[in-house]
Amino acid sequence: MEPRLNPYQPGSGLRPPEMTGREPELEAFDTVIARTGNRLTNRGIILSGLRGVGKTVLLNELRSLAHKHEWLAVHVEAGGSTTGNDAVRKKLGRALVQAAREYKTRSTAKRIADALSSIGSFTTSLGVPGVSFGLTLAPGRADSPDLALNLEEMVQDVATALRPEGRALAIFVDELQDLDKELLSALITVQHRAGQEGWPFYVIGAGLPNLPAVLSDVRSYAERLFEYRHIGPLSPPAAANALKVPAERMGAQYAPEALALLTDATQGYPYFLQEYGKAIWDLAPERTFTTADAEAAIRIGQDRLDQGFYPSRWDRATPAERRFLAAMAEDGDAGSRTAEIARRLGKKPASLGPARASLIGKGLVYAPAHGQIEFTVPGMSAFIARQR
Ligand SMILES: Nc1ncnc2c1ncn2[C@@H]1O[C@H](COP(=O)(O)OP(=O)(O)O)[C@@H](O)[C@H]1O
Ligand SMILES: [Mg+2]
Repeated sequence: MEPRLNPYQPGSGLRPPEMTGREPELEAFDTVIARTGNRLTNRGIILSGLRGVGKTVLLNELRSLAHKHEWLAVHVEAGGSTTGNDAVRKKLGRALVQAAREYKTRSTAKRIADALSSIGSFTTSLGVPGVSFGLTLAPGRADSPDLALNLEEMVQDVATALRPEGRALAIFVDELQDLDKELLSALITVQHRAGQEGWPFYVIGAGLPNLPAVLSDVRSYAERLFEYRHIGPLSPPAAANALKVPAERMGAQYAPEALALLTDATQGYPYFLQEYGKAIWDLAPERTFTTADAEAAIRIGQDRLDQGFYPSRWDRATPAERRFLAAMAEDGDAGSRTAEIARRLGKKPASLGPARASLIGKGLVYAPAHGQIEFTVPGMSAFIARQR
């Protein structure tokens, strides 16, 4: 079929042609929006799961819902190990300035104008001077040397101004587990205070499966502050629809066995669905995709994953780190005990600390529990086995 009409979208954060299986999360957020409209408070939301399951896409979708309901919504991605604390703060500052400027055009109420000045002061304290972006400042508000205090004052001013309108201030953070501890703890503390004071303010975060534990480590009460949602692979019917619906929209279809074969091969992982879908579209000679097409697409899709999705992580590991990963791969994707990895490599557990920390920093593995280590990417162990 014609590549220029190929609807599938493999890639990080790329909106899929059909987003399936996430109705529960979308409905939960609709409820938050409706409750906010009724001036009722809610908890923040945390989406956690492996790489490639569709967290970024879902987070973006929630943000656009918030935007549609005229919330003051900002979005930041906490960078990996390469970007420092300062960079994330500036990103947050710029995102806030932009959201405030947009909001200014929508509302002329004095209450809102005053609140937006607090954003101007706050972003100035983050190194993004509000005035140069057309915001006025609120002297004495959100402009101290204390990040947590400034954040709290800004949130208080903005959220209390939005409350009568039935709207909220929301900060969407992708890769939240990578946020530095100071900013993370400030966000959690303010979320806590907001709940107590009835300020419509929400942190909506996405990240790896250990994100709930990371938050609890910073503030033990984080457990109660958020609605935690594990984002996993799609159910078989949702996975089948993710393949089928976009093809049909473009005038093609799957023979039932072909669809079952492809759905099975992806195990419901959204990234794989897009990659395999893209492959079958490009190679199928006719408008009806056959079992033979599906078998070829699985080979080609797998090859593409082996050339892109996996190496984009594997290539970042040093030789010593790769030995660590290879020792992990013996346990499949189920996770390993660090003590066992040490035994396999003939090393003392303590001597593996640096490799382990570096691999966590690079986002290749995460610690689901003390003394445990697991791949962040589904299928990584099989990929490593194929490298031999
Ligand atoms: N619900 C879904 N249905 C179908 N495809 C999806 C869905 N969610 C995400 N995808 C696709 O999966 C891939 C990975 O999505 P992404 O949001 O980057 O995952 P994550 O942030 O969890 O690593 C993208 O190609 C995206 O188009
Ligand atoms: Mg992501």
